[in-house]
Amino acid sequence: MTDTILIFDTTLRDGEQSPGCSMNLEEKLQVAHQLEELGIDIIEAGFAIASEGDFLAVTEVAKQCQRAVVASLARASSLDIERAWEALRHARRPRIHTFIATSPLHMRVKLGKSPDQVLEAIDASVRLSRKLCADVEWSAEDATRSDPDFLARAIETAISAGARTINLPDTVGYATPETYGALFRDMIERVPNSDLAVFSTHCHNDLGLAVANSLAAVLAGARQVESTINGIGERAGNAAVEEIAMALKVRHDVMPLTTNVRSTEITKASRLVSAVTGFQVQPNKAIVGANAFAHESGIHQDGMIKDSSTYEIMTPESVGLVTSNLVLGKHSGRAAFRQKLQELGYELGDNAFQEAFARFKELADAKKDIFEEDLIALVDDEMLRGHDPIQLQEIEVYCGSNGPQRAILTLEVDGEERTAATRGNGPIDAIFAAMRKLVPHDQARLERYEVHAVTGGTDAQAEVSVLLSENGITTRGRGAHHDTMVASARAYVNALNKLMVKRVRAAGVHASL
Ligand code: KIV
Ligand code: ZN
Repeated sequence: MTDTILIFDTTLRDGEQSPGCSMNLEEKLQVAHQLEELGIDIIEAGFAIASEGDFLAVTEVAKQCQRAVVASLARASSLDIERAWEALRHARRPRIHTFIATSPLHMRVKLGKSPDQVLEAIDASVRLSRKLCADVEWSAEDATRSDPDFLARAIETAISAGARTINLPDTVGYATPETYGALFRDMIERVPNSDLAVFSTHCHNDLGLAVANSLAAVLAGARQVESTINGIGERAGNAAVEEIAMALKVRHDVMPLTTNVRSTEITKASRLVSAVTGFQVQPNKAIVGANAFAHESGIHQDGMIKDSSTYEIMTPESVGLVTSNLVLGKHSGRAAFRQKLQELGYELGDNAFQEAFARFKELADAKKDIFEEDLIALVDDEMLRGHDPIQLQEIEVYCGSNGPQRAILTLEVDGEERTAATRGNGPIDAIFAAMRKLVPHDQARLERYEVHAVTGGTDAQAEVSVLLSENGITTRGRGAHHDTMVASARAYVNALNKLMVKRVRAAGVHASL
């Protein structure tokens, strides 16, 4: 058994199943490139049959990835498997990931199949996958609530049919470290052909145990861990890649195993995923939270000055966090701006760089000091816009104690310029009413609107996030600007663009897991 733990990242598939999360093609490709930089071994790029958008995303990620294995999810049906292969066949290293539920509850209620029928489906789906693709992973959905005798037969069937990775998901986040570790030990020991496969973990975080469970399985013999950046995913999310990688690195003394993760790329990956999904990372989140390396109490600060190892078990630099707070000003030129972006881990293409620089100059005119947080907010915001069909052109707002408050808004929608003037119960209400006039979305409700200041000071940039929901679809949008009204409009437009993508998806073939 090797000492290397393969990291399988499913940010683009399970992560994207988070309520309110959606990424467009360009964003998925940015994430995939960063996952390669991070040293991820296997990238699950999507669920090819779920929609045209997913199919295209798997196809493009498959074409563009240079080193990582690229996987697509497929249910145990020939349509799913053939569609997955159609998207994956461009990959240098393709993998079909097929699954079926094995717990009595799922087999009866969801699949309406007997255990024998499920075994037949496993055999047929894995054999078909193997005909198309040399690398096949099979997952036993709801493995942790499956009958161990049946699960062992299912695994044996999948391996005999050609699967070389066996994933035992804790689909509902029900396991504990002891039970999950024992499951792997038991299956590896009792399945006669288990030595032909790599066993894999896939843990959901419903009880906050996803990382602990994954590590327990690794200690019991699993050699692949499925996880997502920032731990995003269905319900309470998945095990977080950054926590798994750093736990294995920092506690190598008790877990003498390694990964191929380049830990200095972690912060960049976390920020990118947060920016494109609109999901803010909670401040106290391990490894990547804003407070993960912050020291507030006097006693801790004193210890840190004397020797940072008093209160830090890893350095901020080891996860790619740049600690200098170098401030740029309005006289800073392109070279200094570019260098600072590189230090922060951003590589922008020429156009994006020019646009970000123009916005930096605008911000530097409006704001006395520019901090790293300002640049991060600005660049993240710039990366969100991409080639979205709806773009904010101009906004004017009239507000104050003598209402009614009014907004004049100009959007570019699919290349066509549209302007509307509206009144509202406050400036935000007026702006959002103008949005509805220009891009009809009467069924959508604004569920949440949040503003936070990126730095201190009255001239701080505002970072706004909004949550829209429409007929069960939810999307989050984010926007940053030193004018809170502009940041609000940007955030709303971002959410609206995502809503359009999700509407198309919902109208297409809807594959439910
Ligand atoms: O949680 C789960 O069971 C899954 C499988 C489809 C791998 O995501
Ligand atoms: Zn899952």
